[in-house]
Amino acid sequence: MIKNPEIINLPKIGGHDQGYISLIQANDLLPFNPKRIYWIYGVSKETERGGHYHHKLEQVIICIKGKLTIKLENNKGEIIKFILDSPSKALYIPQRHWRDIFFHENAILLCIASENYDENDYVRSYSEFKNIS
Ligand code: TYD
Repeated sequence: MIKNPEIINLPKIGGHDQGYISLIQANDLLPFNPKRIYWIYGVSKETERGGHYHHKLEQVIICIKGKLTIKLENNKGEIIKFILDSPSKALYIPQRHWRDIFFHENAILLCIASENYDENDYVRSYSEFKNIS
């Protein structure tokens, strides 16, 4: 079953002076059991990453710092764009979506992933992705 991408609004605990804690827990907002966490940083220029599709992997993406624009395309050719510009927002990316991720300057991306890294789960050719549908 293909689920839909969606923004998850995370709790934001704290206040203006002392700062905030946001969190996401398995069985509470996180729609899968996490197996891997990685983060992408040091992307200093306006840079696009992603450019691939996953057969099986589900992800929750949080922009810990700065701003990300994430463009998703499903197997029906439907395209949705999301902007992540707050550490209290997360984006759930279901399996079987092509993603292009634009890093605005100095953004840091945190990813919670449903599976361990497996290059065989990737489709890195857009034309191959378009033939999967
Ligand atoms: P990739 O997933 O293509 O990153 P992005 O979509 O942000 O451009 O990964 C970039 C490289 O890092 C690629 O060679 C695979 C490697 N990699 C790992 O070895 N383990 C991991 O958990 C991840 C996410 C990437």
